[in-house]
Amino acid sequence: MELLQISGGRRLEGSLKIQGAKNSVLPILAASLISGAVSVIENCPALRDVEASAAILRHLGCTLRREGSTLIVDSGPVDRCDVPDALMREMRSSVLFLGAVLTRTGCASLSLPGGCELGPRPIDLHLSGLEAMGAEITREGSELHCSTAGLRGCEIQLAIPSVGATENLMLAACRAEGTTVIRNAAREPEIVDLQEFLRAMGASVRGAGSATVEVEGGRHLTDCRHAVLGDRIAAATYLAAAAAAGGDVEIRGVSYRHLSTVTGIFSEAGCHVCSETDSVRLRSRGRLRSVGPVHTAPYPGFPTDAQAPVMAALAGSLGETVFVENIFSDRYRHVRELRRLGADIRTEGRVAVVHGVPYLHGARVRATDLRGGAGLVVAALSAVGGSEITGLEHIDRGYEKMEAALAALGADVRRTDTE
Ligand code: EPZ
Repeated sequence: MELLQISGGRRLEGSLKIQGAKNSVLPILAASLISGAVSVIENCPALRDVEASAAILRHLGCTLRREGSTLIVDSGPVDRCDVPDALMREMRSSVLFLGAVLTRTGCASLSLPGGCELGPRPIDLHLSGLEAMGAEITREGSELHCSTAGLRGCEIQLAIPSVGATENLMLAACRAEGTTVIRNAAREPEIVDLQEFLRAMGASVRGAGSATVEVEGGRHLTDCRHAVLGDRIAAATYLAAAAAAGGDVEIRGVSYRHLSTVTGIFSEAGCHVCSETDSVRLRSRGRLRSVGPVHTAPYPGFPTDAQAPVMAALAGSLGETVFVENIFSDRYRHVRELRRLGADIRTEGRVAVVHGVPYLHGARVRATDLRGGAGLVVAALSAVGGSEITGLEHIDRGYEKMEAALAALGADVRRTDTE
């Protein structure tokens, strides 16, 4: 079994070019299906979730090849519309393929994505939006079967600004007849990146980043080239590590505007943060201070994906910080493991109260989900003594060579295999 061995307490220093964004490249890979042409995707991170998406694209008939950090997808030869259960289980966000497969082939079969480590993950908004566009959806057990004689554009009001539902409907709308307007759309930067990719292939999409996205279907879609946005959550994670362990770290390739709610918290905690157009630098000396309540919210609010890394960074702060997790119902599984590192955190439903301790100590801990695992790494880097972190299959879903990135910043971290 693979594990990370971390010897904590070392300051982090240096500059890091951030990886391409997992939550941007996944919808872009699904979107590459709709053109029937060649998509050249640059700054594509090497992640388990990208491999899982590539396996789905190959299963559907696409050909893919990687040239360094560029992934080239030819979706010309798509000849089926089912996503096998094994591939769906590999990655719950495979539901993002639903709209693209349906609009490209007129059919789609996939198993319902199960709940995950964050709680139930319903897709009712995805399905009701596609039905409004003319999809017929039947459910047999946990299997979904969708078909359409041709999707038609319409107005869709999302009850929740769901990231995935917004993306699925944008993709479905690109080959629908007429105009689709998505209201109460998610406003995350990854939605804007998807819009830029779709525009690059010739689609008519506008409004991404606002609450109303409009897609004019039926455009001729062509070969395209697009560089994936920098990963703001991975950037937040490495900044949290520098804040917790102390140091002076610059993250390049990420827009400070996409991180302002996170950097604002580290400034309040006593760090010195300065930003350029596409880089953020954080300097941290001495013990962090606790901060005001941290409420997770849809963008541009504080991102739920940064909750665990930021909580880990504040575990050793002076004072008490309250977190309220408003997006997912069960996103505190990392708290039990943080306690094994000496953290003093109490949870009640969606609320977690972090009572800062003078220092954390090393321990053997287990990642149970992607961002919770990243939080354990942040905590171990600031702890006194050595830690071992297992469950790397979770962390590798969203962080490209995390140990190499941290070692380049001076951390004492090694990936070993105990087999
Ligand atoms: C995306 O998930 C991200 N994943 C998540 O990142 C991120 O935490 C989340 O958006 C929120 O920002 C990808 O982009 C691949 P939602 P998604 O639909 O699309 C409810 C990570 O760690 N909802 O915006 O699944 C849902 O239960 C991952 O990188 C419905 O009720 O999130 C949740 O409470 C974790 N019905 C809320 O909306 C629906 O049909 C937000 O979910 C859809 C969602």
